[in-house]
Amino acid sequence: MDTDLTRRAFLQSAAIAAGGLTLGACGGEGAVGTAPTPLRILILGGTNFIGPHQVRTAVERGHEVTLFNRGVTNPDLFPELETLIGDRDGDLGALAGREWDVVIDNPANIPRWVRLSAEALRGAVGKYVFVSSTGVYVPYLTTDIREDAPVDTIDDPETEEVNGRTFGALKALAEDEARAAFPDNHLIVRPTYIIGPGDPTDRYTYWPVRLARGGEVLAPGTPDDPMQHVDARDLGAFMIKAVEDDLDGTFNVVGPREGLTMGSLLERTRQAIGWEATFTWVDAAFLREHGIGALTYWTEPVGDYLGMMQVNGDKAFAAGFEMRPLEQTARETLEWFNAQDAERQELRSGLAPEREAELLAGFRGEG
Ligand SMILES: NC(=O)c1ccc[n+]([C@@H]2O[C@H](COP(=O)([O-])OP(=O)(O)OC[C@H]3O[C@@H](n4cnc5c(N)ncnc54)[C@H](OP(=O)(O)O)[C@@H]3O)[C@@H](O)[C@H]2O)c1
Repeated sequence: MDTDLTRRAFLQSAAIAAGGLTLGACGGEGAVGTAPTPLRILILGGTNFIGPHQVRTAVERGHEVTLFNRGVTNPDLFPELETLIGDRDGDLGALAGREWDVVIDNPANIPRWVRLSAEALRGAVGKYVFVSSTGVYVPYLTTDIREDAPVDTIDDPETEEVNGRTFGALKALAEDEARAAFPDNHLIVRPTYIIGPGDPTDRYTYWPVRLARGGEVLAPGTPDDPMQHVDARDLGAFMIKAVEDDLDGTFNVVGPREGLTMGSLLERTRQAIGWEATFTWVDAAFLREHGIGALTYWTEPVGDYLGMMQVNGDKAFAAGFEMRPLEQTARETLEWFNAQDAERQELRSGLAPEREAELLAGFRGEG
């Protein structure tokens, strides 16, 4: 019996059985459905934040998914899937002698990791998909940043120290490795801040959690400051749609399409969770004086950060990228957070309650 076909049939029936699960292959609220042509998809990483959504959408769509990782992060997440064990840092032996239609490379922040895996997979994989970041556009000196805008550079391209100063340039060099190895069949996605249930950073999560506490909330900057994000589930759905549609090239994955400001983000989040809270807008100069240059993923939109939240997402939207409403992300992120154990409910982003109260008092001149 053709074990490949048997496996695909199993995955397809599993997908149908799980049919009510989540969202459509284009993100947003669409129906799931099965892809016309099942693909063999290798996912590097796949078990942390963004990967599981790609995996679930791909399985729901009837694709055959193989994972490659060290077996350290959430190793029991997908017991029904084949997991190849290895290390991006030089142990890629488990990939040898295998073939896939597509590889999705999630966790690489240094060019060497992409170089090694692209070399190992050249000739064995039809398309290389690389998760980059809008961080490549640092410093964000202009607005309406499109995919052909200049990317960041670095004096020492061999450095493997990933930090706020090197991240964007290293991602740009890592993109180049994918382009060089797969010149006619690469797909580079550049997401902005990724949010939603499971976000290990709590950058957006802070807001629904904080608003659910009620009272006077410190809101940074001005209500008109632009904001962008992408829900991890919509990113995953777009990536699977993009490989099904055999898209090539580079795509900013940012939204929402209609524009969002810090004011509308906070008010829509507040309304979505139905809580009583008032906002006190504290300007960037006051925050800076008190050692706060950025709060969650808000930064004053000036200078090097002018266009950070004004990246152009038209190309991905034209290719079928869809975003669920922020209200849904807000509710489901809060539900997810409230279901975590006490240790995980220590917020990893935002202001501690005492610090927020202290800043608000100082801002009102009571400090
Ligand atoms: N968060 C954001 O707002 C944001 C925005 C833009 C772009 N991005 C990009 O999105 C990606 C983040 O994805 P993520 O948070 O879901 O995952 P991640 O933390 O980048 O990667 C974790 C996954 O990779 C595997 N992994 C880690 N080290 C490995 C190694 N040495 N060898 C083999 N596998 C390894 C992990 O499994 P094991 O531990 O079991 O190996 C796990 O499955 C990154 O590329 C990031 O730059 C993030």
